[in-house]
Amino acid sequence: MDKFTIEHGLDLSGNIYVSGAKNAILPSMAACLLAPGKSILRNVPNLIDLKTMAHLLRVIGARVEYGEGFMSIDSKDVCYPEAPYELVSKMRASIYVLGPLVARLGKARVSFPGGCAIGTRPVDLHLKALEALGATIEIEHGYINAKADKLVAADIYFEKSSVGATINTLMAAVYAEGTTRLYNAAMEPEVDSTIDMLNKMGAKITGKGSTTLEIEGVKDLFPVEMPMIPDRIEAGTFLIAGALSQNPITVCGCNPEHLTALLDKLRETGCKLDILGADITITPPETIKSTNILTLPHPGFPTDLQAQFTVLMCMAEGISTVEDTIFPDRFMHVAELSRLQADIRMERNIAIIKGVKDLSGAEVMATDLRASAALVLAGMAAKGTTTVSRIYHIDRGYDRIEEKLNSIGAKIRREIG
Ligand code: EPZ
Repeated sequence: MDKFTIEHGLDLSGNIYVSGAKNAILPSMAACLLAPGKSILRNVPNLIDLKTMAHLLRVIGARVEYGEGFMSIDSKDVCYPEAPYELVSKMRASIYVLGPLVARLGKARVSFPGGCAIGTRPVDLHLKALEALGATIEIEHGYINAKADKLVAADIYFEKSSVGATINTLMAAVYAEGTTRLYNAAMEPEVDSTIDMLNKMGAKITGKGSTTLEIEGVKDLFPVEMPMIPDRIEAGTFLIAGALSQNPITVCGCNPEHLTALLDKLRETGCKLDILGADITITPPETIKSTNILTLPHPGFPTDLQAQFTVLMCMAEGISTVEDTIFPDRFMHVAELSRLQADIRMERNIAIIKGVKDLSGAEVMATDLRASAALVLAGMAAKGTTTVSRIYHIDRGYDRIEEKLNSIGAKIRREIG
């Protein structure tokens, strides 16, 4: 298994470039199943999760080409509506094929997603919404069996704001007869980008950017060519690297509107931000000020930047708290950060962080995607050498993160294992 060896180094400067958003591309890939023919997605980075999704679509019968910066998906011949355990257990987002398959083929068999490093992650809201649209759902031998002769519009209220359930329901409702209304829908930029993709394919969805969405069912959808939005979590990770740095850096090709909560918090820590179109220059303060974080659904502070921001707070003056209301147990990085001599204690589900002058390099282990990004940042900040093992987690969602960070002055070496 590959690992990173990271030498202390925060003498960062220059431009760092953001790739397309994994969490927008995954549902867009599944959406391609809805329209027979060849769709093309642009601004697609090289990520393990996207390879896993491509594999799944091929199993279902689609023809997928994954090249440099693009993916083409021809779903003319999809005929095998099954997401097997071996793929769903690798990547929970495989559940995104459920809505499109029921909508297009009238049936789907999707392995029930199991445990996850960041907490219990039920799919009850996905299933309830599909049932409301007229599908029958049975759970048998670890599989979700969904069937529907036809889907019919419904009014659906989500008890909890869920990105996945909102997107899966949208992808089913586009073919439902009548007008479906979704209440308390998620408003993450990845939901908006899926709406844009579906509307370009011929769907009739209104209410984008709000918690109430209206979907007027249509009879046909058509293949499209679609550029993917920039990855706000990758951009946020790089901005946090900039906050830790000794000099200004510029994060290029992001959408600042997707990053409001983070930018606000970075200003509270004393960082100066200059926004010019899609580029953000961050100038770090002499001393980072502590601040408190509470993760919330968009436009709140994203759970996917919680671990990285925790690292910044480890280097801040004073005491800060971090609470994750989306995944309350998403704190496996805390024990690893403590190995680097961070001063963090957990009180119930709240991390209480006392800033330290220096972190100290050590061997640490990545536990999930965002935790591994946090450990890379911590390794750059720590005096001496840090090794981060199990970095396959980071390759799931960051395209060559070490090359990108090295291009602005980090000292990260990938050891192929
Ligand atoms: C998406 O997961 C992202 N994944 C996650 O990013 C992200 O952390 C999460 O949204 C929150 O922003 C993808 O987009 C592929 P949710 P998702 O449904 O859709 C509860 C990363 O690092 N819930 O919005 O699975 C759930 O337990 C990943 O890139 C139910 O109770 O998240 C959580 O508390 C990790 N029942 C809350 O809702 C359900 O049926 C929000 O989860 C579904 C969710």
